[in-house]
Amino acid sequence: MSSFENLRIVDNFYQTSLFFPMPTVIISTLCEDGSTTLGRYSLVQPYYVAGKDYYAMLLCCRNSSNTAQNILRNGKCALNFIDDSRTSFKEAVKLSWPGDKPSDKMPKCQFLLEKSLIEEETGEQRPQVLTDAIEAIECTWMRELDGADRDHPGELNGYEPPYHDFNGITSKFGAHFILRRRVVK
Ligand SMILES: Cc1cc2nc3c(=O)[nH]c(=O)nc-3n(C[C@H](O)[C@H](O)[C@H](O)COP(=O)(O)O)c2cc1C
Repeated sequence: MSSFENLRIVDNFYQTSLFFPMPTVIISTLCEDGSTTLGRYSLVQPYYVAGKDYYAMLLCCRNSSNTAQNILRNGKCALNFIDDSRTSFKEAVKLSWPGDKPSDKMPKCQFLLEKSLIEEETGEQRPQVLTDAIEAIECTWMRELDGADRDHPGELNGYEPPYHDFNGITSKFGAHFILRRRVVK
């Protein structure tokens, strides 16, 4: 007889029904007005890990989030890995409310931000990075994959099909982004 119990799978199955360790990553993206906004994400993982001459990460997210909309618009983000101190987590919670606009949450945010290394080296406008991050990965969305260069921001109530298989808008409310990486700290 099995020693396991059959679990009923509920929403957010990876959080509620699985033992699945996930990082806490604060993603910075560039808004239309050139300011940086921050969102909290866990579904971030290595994507290309071997056999390429570069590395890439994968982000799974709601396609109406500020983060997704900004990536669709300009393709730029930084994945900031934070520590597990109470202070950092209290700040992270403030960045996790769906529907909060950058103008709602950024004035209250206490994370310190600094200029991107890529911006410093090249002059290209990039989202700022978190000064207190243990490590930050500055990334550019590979919009050329899977025909995703046809995806655009602006649909906040769900995208209509057809959907991509693995990059860009992948369902009515979902998106996957393959992010070419460069570690900066
Ligand atoms: C611990 C934690 C992890 C989260 N991870 C994700 C994630 O991986 N993908 C996602 O779409 N939303 C995730 N969320 C929800 C986002 O934080 C939320 O949608 C937030 O509004 C995103 O901010 P933005 O709209 O400024 O991008 C997470 C929330 C919490 C509390």
